Amino acid sequence: MEPTTFGVLADGREVRQYVLANSTGMTMQVIDYGATITSLSVPDRNGNIRDVVLGYDSLDGYVNGSAYFGAVVGRYGNRIGKGRFTLDGSEYRLTANDGENHLHGGKVGFNKVLWDAAVAEGSGSPAIRFTYTSPDGEEGYPGTVTLKVTYTLTEDNALRVEYEGVTDRTTILNPTQHSYFNLTGNFNGKILDHLLMIEADSYTPVDAGLIPTGDVLPVEGTPLDFRAPRAIGERIEDAFGQLALGGGYDHNWVLRNYTGPGEIHKAAELYDPESGRLMTVSTDQPGIQFYSGNFLDGTAKGKNGIAYGRRTGLCLETQVFPDSPNKPDFPSATLKPGQAYRQTTIYQFSTR
Ligand code: GLA
Repeated sequence: MEPTTFGVLADGREVRQYVLANSTGMTMQVIDYGATITSLSVPDRNGNIRDVVLGYDSLDGYVNGSAYFGAVVGRYGNRIGKGRFTLDGSEYRLTANDGENHLHGGKVGFNKVLWDAAVAEGSGSPAIRFTYTSPDGEEGYPGTVTLKVTYTLTEDNALRVEYEGVTDRTTILNPTQHSYFNLTGNFNGKILDHLLMIEADSYTPVDAGLIPTGDVLPVEGTPLDFRAPRAIGERIEDAFGQLALGGGYDHNWVLRNYTGPGEIHKAAELYDPESGRLMTVSTDQPGIQFYSGNFLDGTAKGKNGIAYGRRTGLCLETQVFPDSPNKPDFPSATLKPGQAYRQTTIYQFSTR
């Protein structure tokens, strides 16, 4: 797996692109900037292979963009209210980069740094491991954190994403993958006809800043009920307060099958009836953020010069819940020295 040059950063460092391919025709391109997935090409029901993730043609887009296309976000995926939290009696203040709140690791999160890359041997499938060491105090977070993210492409068209993180001081860690999927492979169209199923009976409602109120509410009787597959566009404009706050779907669902760290369970299923492409998301995390691409507004010029309009892609971000550091009843994101943070999330592709 020989890398090619994808671009050069302002400070002269080279950004490299790697191609992972299995023997059945699925391919993935990934760059060491942000450990970003730049393309993911999978067959439809007739065997036509198309790229199903949004992204940019060149490094410029990834450096200057604010949509987190394909990147690993962290240290904390999603929001922390007012960018503040207390750990072991000390208060920490993180960069406020989303109004008064902290989002996706801050101004220079894991999506905006260059990672070390190494081809990962051993599994028999093409795999690449990215490593980033985040210095103590970066974006306000305590502790030096080293995070490894391994992408493996299996013969049965699964993308396996494994995370492993350690720290030298008590801190918080909650990285996630921020790919925007559009299973039609046509980025001029929207994702509103995709059918989504989420293995969740409840969700965490948010306030106007998209910070969880701390409540856990049933999805039953609301447009957030995806217990059975439903078209994303079916209820997205319903007069329902939570949808108005998010400008559509932008919430954390509480995964029913979560039993504890390390246990992988099915979290969601996304299906495009037109192409027949089906993506199943499994994870060992307690929550998933379904974000329906509401903030895409046509200003981001993506691959092949296509301007990405509202809802041309959607994210399914496996995570502990947003603002967990300030919500004692939510699953904890605390990581202590001597412990290892671990996450496995699998995006399995097939057709129907
Ligand atoms: C996440 C958030 C959204 C938005 C996007 C990036 O999914 O939940 O509110 O910030 O990232 O645009």
